Order: sequence, then structure tokens, then C-alpha cells
Amino acid sequence: MPIVRLVGIHPFQNKPFKDKYFVNITRTDRIRSFVLRAGRTTTGQQRAIDELGPQFLIPFQEHVLDLQQAFSGSSRPKILEIGFGMGETTAKIAALRSEDDFLAIEVHPPGVGALLKLIGEGNLTNLRLIRHDAVEVLEKMIAPNSLDGIHIYFADPWHKKRHHKRRLIQAQFVKLLISRLKSAAYLHLATDWHNYAEQMLLVLNAESDLENTSREKISVETFAATDIVSKIELAKESVKEFKPTLEQLGAEHAGYVERPSYRPTTKFENRGIKLGHGVWDLVYKKN
Ligand SMILES: C[S@@+](CC[C@H](N)C(=O)[O-])C[C@H]1O[C@@H](n2cnc3c(N)ncnc32)[C@H](O)[C@@H]1O
Repeated sequence: MPIVRLVGIHPFQNKPFKDKYFVNITRTDRIRSFVLRAGRTTTGQQRAIDELGPQFLIPFQEHVLDLQQAFSGSSRPKILEIGFGMGETTAKIAALRSEDDFLAIEVHPPGVGALLKLIGEGNLTNLRLIRHDAVEVLEKMIAPNSLDGIHIYFADPWHKKRHHKRRLIQAQFVKLLISRLKSAAYLHLATDWHNYAEQMLLVLNAESDLENTSREKISVETFAATDIVSKIELAKESVKEFKPTLEQLGAEHAGYVERPSYRPTTKFENRGIKLGHGVWDLVYKKN
């Protein structure tokens, strides 16, 4: 499989630990759920990376991480977050839930700097960060049956139909998530894009190892008969992109939950709610 260098510019330039913490994200034939945006790391974020990186930023590695050791020997439950953005929600949850440890993953360098800054300002000790593709982190660094929870908040919705294949929540990735959760552990997702919420619901509800904790029933509203998967596509193992079946369009499904109190609303989310836009929370338990 060809490995091509994707990133040439080092975002943590000229820093003593750069090679240890910044592993070039390579391009494989897998479709990525992100594009690396050009974004400047501010002086404050860079200072946080320099000063706190050695303590809180875990380098990507090709072998399994000892989670207890990564959190200075702590045996507290371990929650993984995928795609923390600028980290405001992550820092608030870590401060609120001091009885848990949080391993947070993001590819965007300024976000890593921003969350390290929040770690310093809040004196948070129960957070560790990895700057890498979460798919590879889960595959290589996280042992099966080792996580007590997973958070995925406002994953990129990839609005355009031709980009739906980039959406993170697809059956194959969900199977990877389930394999890393302990029995009775939870998976919590939130999105403000109705069509992605329905995709999440249909993909996750189809997994027999997951139990949707919602009591409500919903019908699919944003997919139409023109979106359904064809028999030929269903037979092909190579089809990775979610498409509903005709049966799913006509059926009722276990639905969404109220926002759990530990998840704070973001500024962006509050603005959307005022404008009448929806937010959907999904919480599952592994059987
Ligand atoms: C729309 S933002 C949401 C950020 C944050 N969770 C929030 O609620 O504000 C999605 C984030 O996920 C990150 N992301 C997408 N795919 C990723 C992956 N495979 N591994 C790590 N981060 C990823 C993106 O870089 C982006 O910052």
C-alpha cells in the first residue's frame, strides 16, 4: 500500500520535542474524515505546547499504550474523545468529572495548543492529548475492551452528498469503537446536522453489541427513496459509505436522548438553538 507524505509543514516548528510529538500523518487508501486546515498556532498556544506538551501530549505510536501509565498510574475510568476542536467542551467535562480520566484526540495543531492552554489555566490533571488521526490511534494504541466511554461531539457533518463518504460514523469504524469499549461502557455522540444524526442512529442501532438508551421512537425524515442502497452495493464488501435500506426508511427506530448534564452547550450550539436549529444527542451502552 503506497504511503505518501501529506503534510510538509511542521506546525510545532523549531521546538525541541518536535520529532517526538509530531508524526506526519500519512495518506493511505482510506478516506479520511478530516482535511488538515491551514491555521496559525498563536503565541499563547505555542507556549502551552512548549511548556505543557511534554507532560500532557502523548506521541502517536504503533503499539498499544498503557493507559494507566499514561495517566501517572491512575486507575480511574478512561474516557476517549474524538475530534475535540479547540477543546472548550473537553476541558469543562474534565474539570466537572474529576473522578474520570480523559484521553482526547485531535488532528488540528492550534486546537491541541488551545486545549493545553486550558489544561494549564484549569490545573487539570486528568486529561491527556494525542495529535493524530483517531482511526489510527484506536487501531494501534488502544487495547480491545479498555475504554469506559467514548465521546464524539459535532463530528464534521460533510454536508454535501458527494462528501458523505468522509463521515466518521460508518459501520466499519463503529465496529472498531465497539471493540475498544469494555462491556457496559458507553458511547455518546452529539450533532447539529439532522441528516448525520439519522445516519448515526441507523448505523449504531444496527449493531447488536450496542443498546440505544433512548426510550423515544423516531421515523427517518432526511433520507429519501432515492438515497437507498442498491442490492449490488449491498453485496459489495468494498462499499464503505452509509446508505439506508428501504426497510429502514419505512420503520420506527429507537431515537435520541436529552443532553446529558455533563455535556456543556457550546457558544455555536446556543446560537443555533436560538435560531431554532436542532441538536441531537445519542447515548449507547455496550452489551
Ligand atoms: C466540527 S469539529 C467539532 C469540534 C468539537 N468536538 C466541538 O464540539 O466543538 C470536528 C473536529 O474533529 C476533528 N477530526 C475529524 N476527524 C478526525 C479524526 N479522524 N481524528 C481526529 N480528529 C478528527 C476535526 O479536526 C475537527 O476539529
